[in-house]
This record gives sequence, structure tokens and C-alpha cells, in this order.
Amino acid sequence: MNNEDLFKKVVSHCKEYGFVFPSSEIYDGLAAVYDYGQNGVELRNNIRQYWWKAMTQLQTNILGIDAAIFMHPKTWKASGHIDGFSDPMIDNKDSKKRYRADVLLEEHQEKLRAKADKEVEKARARFGDSFDEAMYRSTNPRVVEYLNAIAHIDNTLKEGLETGNLGMIKALIEELGIVCPVSGSKNWTDVRQFNLMYSTQMSAVESGEDSLYLRPETAQGIFVNFLNVQKSGRAKIPFGIAQTGKAFRNEIVARQFIMRMKEFEQMEMQFFCKPGTELEWYAYWKEQRLKWHLALGTDKNSYRYHDHVKLAHYANAAVDIEFDFPFGFKEVEGIHSRTDFDLSKHEEFSGKKLRYFDPETNESYIPYVVETSIGLDRMFLLSLCAAYQEETVEGGELRTVLKLHPALAPVKAAILPLVKKDGLPELAEKIYNDLRFDFKLYIEDKDSIGKRYRRMDAIGTPFCITVDHDSITNDDVTIRHRDTMEQRRVKVSELRDILAKETGMSALLQKLV
Ligand code: GAP
Repeated sequence: MNNEDLFKKVVSHCKEYGFVFPSSEIYDGLAAVYDYGQNGVELRNNIRQYWWKAMTQLQTNILGIDAAIFMHPKTWKASGHIDGFSDPMIDNKDSKKRYRADVLLEEHQEKLRAKADKEVEKARARFGDSFDEAMYRSTNPRVVEYLNAIAHIDNTLKEGLETGNLGMIKALIEELGIVCPVSGSKNWTDVRQFNLMYSTQMSAVESGEDSLYLRPETAQGIFVNFLNVQKSGRAKIPFGIAQTGKAFRNEIVARQFIMRMKEFEQMEMQFFCKPGTELEWYAYWKEQRLKWHLALGTDKNSYRYHDHVKLAHYANAAVDIEFDFPFGFKEVEGIHSRTDFDLSKHEEFSGKKLRYFDPETNESYIPYVVETSIGLDRMFLLSLCAAYQEETVEGGELRTVLKLHPALAPVKAAILPLVKKDGLPELAEKIYNDLRFDFKLYIEDKDSIGKRYRRMDAIGTPFCITVDHDSITNDDVTIRHRDTMEQRRVKVSELRDILAKETGMSALLQKLV
């Protein structure tokens, strides 16, 4: 299966098996907004819980909060989101379609890169073992031309954005002859900055003064509560504050399913530390966060770090954790060393001191912050892409199976009476009723056992527990493992311990310490 097929299959699997639906689908949906179905919500809750426990339960010095989505409008002035949280947009006058100017240019660069790679591959075939790729890339006139054009785009885009000279960016789009993918024309408007925040009103009367924003990140709710938590929690530096919650961005170029949404959820942690120690903590969190991902059993070659070379002016280190999605390596999480930028800005705009008094040195200072920020929806998509498999099983039948980590699986076990008579459904129900206080289970007596196994494989249920005639006399059942499809006989009284050990979160969390 190629990557494009895999991605299409994951998207349609999500709908067919109740993981993700387009929002308000009966009205033809809403672009870049999605709803989670009965299995999706369980998977999402489990991912969130894994993150939350790793942060607030395993780490002795991280405290959780849940700040409101609405915040005082000055928050966004202080954070820089009102003035700087925007994308350069351009419209095509013929198709009336709006595009991110930087994305149009990046797509053009991709085409040039592909052309250069094609030349290199042709030469490799021609020269065989004696081929020196580095030499060819630096000397072949056609390849050099492509690579220079790529660098020219990078430089002009950077200069245009940094100096606010958006005319330069439009001129570049015209110079490169970029056409609208819909109309095919070059009839472009000027490039304008378009703020990504959604605004609304606090009261019923529109007055401009009370306009509010839907938060574009959860982090600011942590910064403004820094002293509240520190004082009420008697927290000593270094300590962290963690939060999960919805964020909203008016993404114009929303693509790749739930990868880039207008309403999404973030899981963020700000770690407050003494100035001068931040790079040590940054290294710690960089390693710790990748460990969190890898503990789920995902192939480590599917992950990579992308260290930022160009840093935001307030950051002194930043890295993305990228995952090899079917459409290439993309960011799933960011770790940023943000210095004292945010707290200093909030001090300036609120007029309130946001300092930590260090009782050991008798000093007061604004702490430095290392942030870890991961998108829950992206982690959800990652989990599905990594777990989705099609296998040919005995008899040549194809089974689709989600090999999710058992602790993340929406349903932990299915209780299946072999037939719908002879007291088997009643015994199955008794087992279900006994275990449902501890585990999310499923019980079903319709269809052949084979069909029921397949449906459970498709939603990633780690265990199927089959109740048969021997179960009535022997008080035992068959337990089938999703990945190996192996079956073994166990006593009913053993089920609770088996499920707790195999599907609980504690074994997963133990890998992190
Ligand atoms: N507080 C830092 C911050 O918000 P970000 O890189 O803009 O940094 C952090 O976002 C994470 O949030 C990203 O790594 C990504 O996983 C997720 N994210 C950002 N925008 C998103 C969107 N439009 N849809 C889904 N997830 C998004």
C-alpha cells in the first residue's frame, strides 16, 4: 500500500468505524472542523490521559490547571498575537480563492526540488557507482539553477516578512509565474496579513471595546496564572504548569484532514526555571517528550527532531518533534525555550509584578520558561496512521486491524458468547457486568464469531473474550489477542488482572521513569 492509499484508507476508516466525522455533515460539513465519534472520543480521552498523567502524576513538580477559553483582550496584546499572529494571504481575482502566499511559494519550491532530484537520479543511473552526488549538485548548471531559485525564494520571502514589505512577496509570485490551481490564472490581488484569531463580543451590545478573542493557544492561560498557582501550590522553582484544552485559529489553508483544523486541542506545559538553567531543562524536555512518544511502541525511525535554525526573537532554542505521516515528516509537537518573554510582557501590560521570590538566595526574578506543546488531534492522527494495517490471514481473508497501544484502545475487551443460546449470553453478561466498573467493554452476540472478531480488530480492541459451552462447566473462557490472534484458555476469575496488566496505563507510564 502506498502512502497516498494509506492516508485515504485511514480517513475513510475513521468515518466508517466512528472515530471522526465531518462537522455538521448533514449540511455538507464545515471546512477544517471535525467531530469525534464513539470510538474517536475514547481514543482521544486516552491520549489526553496518558499526557496528563505523564505530566501531573509522574512529575512531582508539575501542577495542572484548566483556564477559560475567553481571556482579557489585553492578554493577546501582551503576547504579541494581535500584532503578529498572522499569515500573508493572497486572493486570485478569477477563482475568488484565497491562499497563503508563503505556502504558494513553498509549493513552487517543492516543484523545483523535485526537478533537481530528477536530474540527479538520471545522472546516477548514467554514471553508476562512480557517481558523486555532492559534486553533481554543486556543478551541474541545470541543478544549480534550480537550487539557486529555491534559495532566492527563501531569501525574498524572509526579507518580505521581516520588513513587512509584502509587495516584494507579490512581485516574487508574479516573477515566478505562479498560477492559481483552480482558475489557472495569474490575476492576483496584493498580499495582505490576515490575523488568525477569531473574535467575538463579551456583551450583547457591539462596541468594539469589549471584543474578545477565542484563544489561539492554551499557553497564555498558564502564564497569567503563574503566580496564582505558584503561591497557592507553594511551588518552588523549577516547577511546571500543565493544561489541555481547545484552541482556535482561522487557518485559511486547512489541509490533510485533522492535521490542520480551525478548532483543535492542545496539551501544553510551561516549565518555570531559574534564568541560566533553561538550556539544561530544554535538553531534558526534548529527550523526555520523545520518550513519551516512543513508549507507545511506535517505530523510532518514524520520528525525528527538527531543530530550528531561525529562532523567534524571544527564543534561545526550539525544536519540533516530527512524525513521518503518509504525506511526509510533519510537526506533531514543539519544545521551545522562551526565556522570560511572556511573563515580562504580561508584567508590562498588566502592571502587576510576576516575579518569583527565591527563599534560598533572597532574590526576586522573572523565571525563564521551557514550553512543551503538542496537538491532541495531530497525536490522534499519528496514532491511527501508525496503527492501521491490512493483513492477509489464514484462508486468504483480508483483515484490517488497528494495532493501537492497548492503553490507548477505545475498547479494552469484547465479551462474545459463541452462540446465542444455551445460557452463553447470560454468562457473557455476568462477566461484562462484573468487569465494567474497571474497563470500557463491548458485548455482542450477533453474527458469526469471525465477523465479530474482525469488527473488534478494526477498532483496535486488544482482547476478545469468547464464552463457549465449556465456560458453563469449567468457569473459563477463551481470550484472543488482537495482534497475534492467538487464543488461550483462562479462568474467568483471572480476567480482571489480565486486563488491568495488559490494557492499563501503569505499564506504559513506568517506561517513562
Ligand atoms: N504555545 C505554542 C504553540 O501554540 P504551535 O507550534 O503554534 O505552538 C503547537 O502549536 C502544536 O499545536 C503543534 O505542534 C500542533 O501539534 C498543534 N497545532 C497547531 N495548529 C494546529 C491546527 N491548526 N490544527 C491542529 N493542530 C494544530
